[in-house]
Amino acid sequence: MRISLFVWLFLILLSISCGCGSSISAYSQCVDREGSLLLQLKKSLKFSSSNSPKLGSWNEGTDCCKWGGVMCDEEGHVIDLDLNDESIYGGIDNSSSLFSLHYLQRLNLAYNDMDGSQIPSEFGKLSNLIYLNMTLSSFGGQIPIEISRMARLVTLDLSYNYRLVVENPSLKLLFHNLTELKQLYLDGVNISAHRHEWSQALSSLSNLQELGLSFCSLSGPIDSSLVNLRSLSLIRLNYNNISARVPEFFADYSNLTELHLFSCGFYGKVPERIFQMPTLQVLDLGNNKLEGFFPDSVLKLTHIVYLDLSGNNFTGPIPSLHKSKNLTDLYLAVNRFTGPIPSFRMSKGLIYINLCCNNLTGTIPWSHFDGLVNLTSIDLSENSVGGTIPSSLFGISSLSEILLQQNQFEGQLPEFPNASSSLLQLLDLSNNKLEGLIPMSILELGSLRGLTLSFNNFSGTMQFEIFQRLGNLIMLDLAYNSLSIDASGSNSSFPRLTGLSLASCKLQQFPNLKNQSDMDYLDLSNNQISGEIPNWIWELAGNGYSYLNLSHNLLVDLQKPYSFGNATLDLDLHSNQLHGQIPIPPLANYLDYSSNNFNYSIPADIGDPSIVKL
Ligand SMILES: *[C@@H]1O[C@H](CO)[C@@H](O)[C@H](O)[C@H]1NC(C)=O
Ligand SMILES: *[C@@H]1O[C@H](CO)[C@@H](O)[C@H](O)[C@H]1NC(C)=O
Ligand SMILES: *[C@@H]1O[C@H](CO)[C@@H](O)[C@H](O)[C@H]1NC(C)=O
Ligand SMILES: *[C@@H]1O[C@H](CO)[C@@H](O)[C@H](O)[C@H]1NC(C)=O
Ligand SMILES: *[C@@H]1O[C@H](CO)[C@@H](O)[C@H](O)[C@H]1NC(C)=O
Ligand SMILES: *[C@@H]1O[C@H](CO)[C@@H](O)[C@H](O)[C@H]1NC(C)=O
Ligand SMILES: *[C@@H]1O[C@H](CO)[C@@H](O)[C@H](O)[C@H]1NC(C)=O
Ligand SMILES: *[C@@H]1O[C@H](CO)[C@@H](O)[C@H](O)[C@H]1NC(C)=O
Ligand SMILES: *[C@@H]1O[C@H](CO)[C@@H](O)[C@H](O)[C@H]1NC(C)=O
Ligand SMILES: *[C@@H]1O[C@H](CO)[C@@H](O)[C@H](O)[C@H]1NC(C)=O
Ligand SMILES: *[C@@H]1O[C@H](CO)[C@@H](O)[C@H](O)[C@H]1NC(C)=O
Ligand SMILES: *[C@@H]1O[C@H](CO)[C@@H](O)[C@H](O)[C@H]1NC(C)=O
Repeated sequence: MRISLFVWLFLILLSISCGCGSSISAYSQCVDREGSLLLQLKKSLKFSSSNSPKLGSWNEGTDCCKWGGVMCDEEGHVIDLDLNDESIYGGIDNSSSLFSLHYLQRLNLAYNDMDGSQIPSEFGKLSNLIYLNMTLSSFGGQIPIEISRMARLVTLDLSYNYRLVVENPSLKLLFHNLTELKQLYLDGVNISAHRHEWSQALSSLSNLQELGLSFCSLSGPIDSSLVNLRSLSLIRLNYNNISARVPEFFADYSNLTELHLFSCGFYGKVPERIFQMPTLQVLDLGNNKLEGFFPDSVLKLTHIVYLDLSGNNFTGPIPSLHKSKNLTDLYLAVNRFTGPIPSFRMSKGLIYINLCCNNLTGTIPWSHFDGLVNLTSIDLSENSVGGTIPSSLFGISSLSEILLQQNQFEGQLPEFPNASSSLLQLLDLSNNKLEGLIPMSILELGSLRGLTLSFNNFSGTMQFEIFQRLGNLIMLDLAYNSLSIDASGSNSSFPRLTGLSLASCKLQQFPNLKNQSDMDYLDLSNNQISGEIPNWIWELAGNGYSYLNLSHNLLVDLQKPYSFGNATLDLDLHSNQLHGQIPIPPLANYLDYSSNNFNYSIPADIGDPSIVKL
């Protein structure tokens, strides 16, 4: 009830504020003939009325210009039909009355399920169409030549219909007469039959502004005639194997705002002029084989918002971005950048910073993150950054991910300011040289889902129980520090925990995890746990997969009666003092029972683990 009232208010506000419906349709009645064509159309379409709010509102005896998704001109002719996301399924055939709506200028059939059926050739009759949108509608087969008769088309969106192909007629025949086109989206359409000609075939579309061709099975090189498309503002070629150099003429598109070249097999140096295009807002060169370095003067992307250079071979220091005041997304991961982490203070709108897996060094000055009030994720992992972790980083209240693992950070961990209102979900500081006590404010990070502090030199004694305060924890890893974890407390309850590593935490006993029902990773190795392996441990993983490592303890037996659960085990019990019969789990990938005192008679029915060590 509240929702429908809200929608109703919203619609009223919308019609008042934009006045769009009223100026076109309010003055005239729908032409009878077109009303009945629409009703015939409704009859011929398969849809599920509960999910088709617009079609559902088409009723005989009412003015069709007021029906959902319908807009008319002043004479009452239907000029705009928006049936996007109406749960239409099974396709449209050539005889459909849709193709008698000759005044139609805009048609949107996006987000329906045509189940691989063909695009009807009768579309050619809709010669007044300016806008045709059939994205994500599961059309299939060859795009019919009749599309090329819609000479007034300005927007054609056939993207993400993965069963569509362009083979015969060719790309050139289909499109070279559609010279009014400003937006052409063919992402996901299989153009592999014309993969070498695509750039030439489209070079006559001189008004084109937006060109989407990702996932089209295209090849390179890119023909220089494509430079004729001078008005291009968006180029999207992601996930094609272009296997060529990035053409310098891309820099000649004086209105280019978005260049998406992710995973295209581009190699070599990127022409410097690309990094100096004053119009670019999105530059995605991720996952190619690009190389080169950035002297200070190279990068002049003053309007850049989204910059992805990750997964390449760029070298040298990270380019200075101090002129890029609107940057929100910075992805430079997996390159060979060296030198210090630059200051980001000039890009105050940054939301994502990913510099993982480079060769960055140096320390991070306290002031580097000043004023980044929207920063959500920072990933500096797998570098060689050292010094202490600046507490100013922990003070950024918008952060939900801090990934600093595999670096050279040292010293004590600062307290988390305002921890109780923190949004932090993921904190990974593993594989550094941090020491001292784990700050207690960490236990107030109520949103935390993953906490990984392993392979540092944290010290002190902590009750395992106190981590229960982190009620959203999914993964807790405190292994290989100098910590003593005291697990003597009563039942513990972590509503969501699925992974726990307390390896090498000087544990004397099993933490009581009896009430956990969804653990698929438990590492209690390298402790001083003695006595029996409790029988509840085999039930922790339910029916899934379970990694259980109890090696290097002082365990002597399995508590009886025990029954292995239904999980497929990776079970490591080596280097204990276990004796008696060898326990045989019914499902296992990996079993290590070595260095124990088991009664060695290798059972015939050991099952089929891929590795067994006895
Ligand atoms: C429409 O008619 C054409 C020509 O007769 C035919 O090739 C095509 O398969 C038909 N399309 C549909 C969707 O029925
Ligand atoms: C096509 O329609 C969908 C759904 O309404 C929309 O998200 C998309 O932006 C449209 N494409 C174009 C080019 O307008
Ligand atoms: C394209 O236009 C030319 C000139 O008007 C015409 O001769 C040709 O048949 C058209 N091609 C297609 C595929 O419609
Ligand atoms: C594209 O179509 C060609 C045949 O023209 C086929 O060999 C290829 O597997 C298809 N590619 C994809 C991604 O479907
Ligand atoms: C670039 O955009 C501007 C403003 O929209 C327009 O006036 C100009 O003609 C465009 N340039 C080209 C080459 O299309
Ligand atoms: C990409 O194309 C190049 C040259 O045509 C070819 O050598 C390479 O194997 C292709 N790579 C993939 C992943 O298809
Ligand atoms: C980077 O360069 C090295 C050495 O030339 C090469 O082996 C590697 O494949 C390259 N990586 C990428 C992502 O281009
Ligand atoms: C930054 O974005 C704002 C808002 O979109 C815009 O007005 C401004 O011109 C942009 N500045 C630069 C340098 O791109
Ligand atoms: C980082 O530098 C070291 C030493 O110079 C080198 O061995 C290593 O390959 C570099 N790593 C990367 C990702 O370039
Ligand atoms: C932070 O995000 C909000 C909401 O998107 C935006 O209005 C604000 O301008 C951003 N702040 C900065 C410094 O970019
Ligand atoms: C902590 O929160 C209070 C109130 O929300 C705020 O005034 C203060 O600046 C915050 N302190 C830090 C260090 O973020
Ligand atoms: C194991 O599977 C059997 C049969 O599917 C089921 O009855 C039993 O409850 C399961 N045991 C556990 C611990 O999930």
